[in-house]
Amino acid sequence: MKNIILTGDRPTGRLHLGHYVGSLKERVKMQNEDDYESLFVMIADTQALTDNYGNPQKVRDNVIEVMLDYLSVGLEPDKTTFFIQSAVNALPELTTYYMNLVTLPRVLRNPTVKSEIKARGFDEEKEGIPVGFATYPISQASDITAFKANLVPVGDDQLPMIEQAKEIVKSFNTTYQEVLVTPKAVIPEEKVCSRLPGIDGNAKMSKSLGNCIYLADDTETVKKKIKSMYTDPLHINITDPGHIEGNTVFTYLDVFCKDEHFAKYLPEYHNLEELKNHYQKGGLGDVKIKNFLFAIIEELLTPFREKRAFYEQHLDEVLEILKEGSAKANQVANQTLLEVKEAMGITYFDDKNFLIEQNNKYTKI
Ligand code: TRP
Repeated sequence: MKNIILTGDRPTGRLHLGHYVGSLKERVKMQNEDDYESLFVMIADTQALTDNYGNPQKVRDNVIEVMLDYLSVGLEPDKTTFFIQSAVNALPELTTYYMNLVTLPRVLRNPTVKSEIKARGFDEEKEGIPVGFATYPISQASDITAFKANLVPVGDDQLPMIEQAKEIVKSFNTTYQEVLVTPKAVIPEEKVCSRLPGIDGNAKMSKSLGNCIYLADDTETVKKKIKSMYTDPLHINITDPGHIEGNTVFTYLDVFCKDEHFAKYLPEYHNLEELKNHYQKGGLGDVKIKNFLFAIIEELLTPFREKRAFYEQHLDEVLEILKEGSAKANQVANQTLLEVKEAMGITYFDDKNFLIEQNNKYTKI
């Protein structure tokens, strides 16, 4: 059986390097291998509205931004189906049925939802948590199962969502019939890629913390951001021995640097080990390692910017890609919805047995 892959992002801002190493890179890789049947990438506007209900303009504005980021990193419309969550009616319908398979304590136990509730400052005592927000993992299970996706490439913060989806699949398939496919999360092999730190050394690159390098940042912005990066506060003079652990520049080098970068941009060294050793011994300044990192990030982002610039001038094409993808997504999701409803016995008008069964009740023999 060939893989069906589905993933998505909330359109609440431009995508950054954390998204790239956490999931986008894996998607591009999967797209370019031929062991999949289909690859769906969804702009999760419905989900974004669960905690931006007061700011729909933000969601609306970022649909195209996120789409431009997708296209810029090399996801291609002839290999990947892009669609908008709110354009697929079967998704909320599936959610309604799945809601019967999940208890309230179970949704509120979701660790990602819990920490998001805290981060958003919802006051559980006062105004309470919006039901749509508390139950978005159920809607995420619909996103995944509607396409019968078996693989879901995500960062590790999404693991509780996949767990919830698996439970729903199991419950549905045992309560009704084996219709749904059990999904598997595909997370980056290296932990640091699931959670790339911000340029300020904070544990996570995140828009709300203002510590991101965006995929669409221009050269000057990237230069400035890397210059300001958190390194080792104890490394004051060049001659001081420096620390690698918790030093964001080295964390990024671990993620982005390959041996060939040394030959190109820093030929005095052959590999990262040598560079680290020198830094730890003392005698290697932050400016040098930052310039090196800058060269590597620029090499990564330059082709992204070029592709983005092209699509920025062809927004009609971008919208058309989404429209066509959404039409295809509707077809697939409607088919699953039909199977789900058949399994539940609620397709009354197309179910030949329904009338027979009912008639039998009233036929006197
Ligand atoms: N929760 C994901 C995020 O925060 C977005 C998302 C919605 C998603 N539905 C999905 C991811 C289905 C993978 C599969 O970005």
